[in-house]
Amino acid sequence: MWTERYRIPEYLFGTEPNDFLKEQAHHISGKEILCIGDGEGRNGVWLAMQGFRVCSLDMAETGLIKAVELAQKNNVKLTILLADLESYDLGVGQWDAVVSIFCHTPGLVRQKIHKALSQALLPKGVFILEAYTPDQLNKGTGGPSKAEMMMNAKELKTELSGLEILTLCEKDRVIQEGLAHNGLSSVVQCVAVKNN
Ligand SMILES: C[S@@+](CC[C@H](N)C(=O)[O-])C[C@H]1O[C@@H](n2cnc3c(N)ncnc32)[C@H](O)[C@@H]1O
Repeated sequence: MWTERYRIPEYLFGTEPNDFLKEQAHHISGKEILCIGDGEGRNGVWLAMQGFRVCSLDMAETGLIKAVELAQKNNVKLTILLADLESYDLGVGQWDAVVSIFCHTPGLVRQKIHKALSQALLPKGVFILEAYTPDQLNKGTGGPSKAEMMMNAKELKTELSGLEILTLCEKDRVIQEGLAHNGLSSVVQCVAVKNN
């Protein structure tokens, strides 16, 4: 589905970074960042422009090609990784930050990724996430059409029990991101850190 959706000349979610990521990026202290489900790269490229070394992972090659083009346009380096999170191994002690912006997968895949974070992050490594909650269904302003592809704060608290949660909240906020995210939206936002 994503492979097809990205076959348009425009950037589906625009080329500007996500607001929550921009607000929270100051928590990142090291250099190595993995952006999961980074699509056309607007968030990975913005992080690279801030001086981080970024790996943009996505399963849609058409998105990653646009991510490379956006990086070139902004004169930054971006490593791209064509991979499916269902089978991808996040590694051990590898990342100073993992960024997940509207990375909606089936619940079992999401749980697997979130469980792997406490191993995959370096000490003081952070996890930054914004995603739609099931309250977003029928709003018509973006996001998946099925609740099972969404998440809420209670689920995240359980799944991220290996990390210290700094911020975890559900809220309604107006989002303007390209063609596909537009208007009042129900989201969950999270920042968590590996402290042990
Ligand atoms: C709503 S888009 C968000 C893209 C990007 N994070 C942004 O905010 O602009 C969700 C992205 O997650 C990717 N994705 C979904 N499931 C995935 C999986 N199992 N493995 C890798 N990428 C996946 C899709 O290909 C898509 O690019």
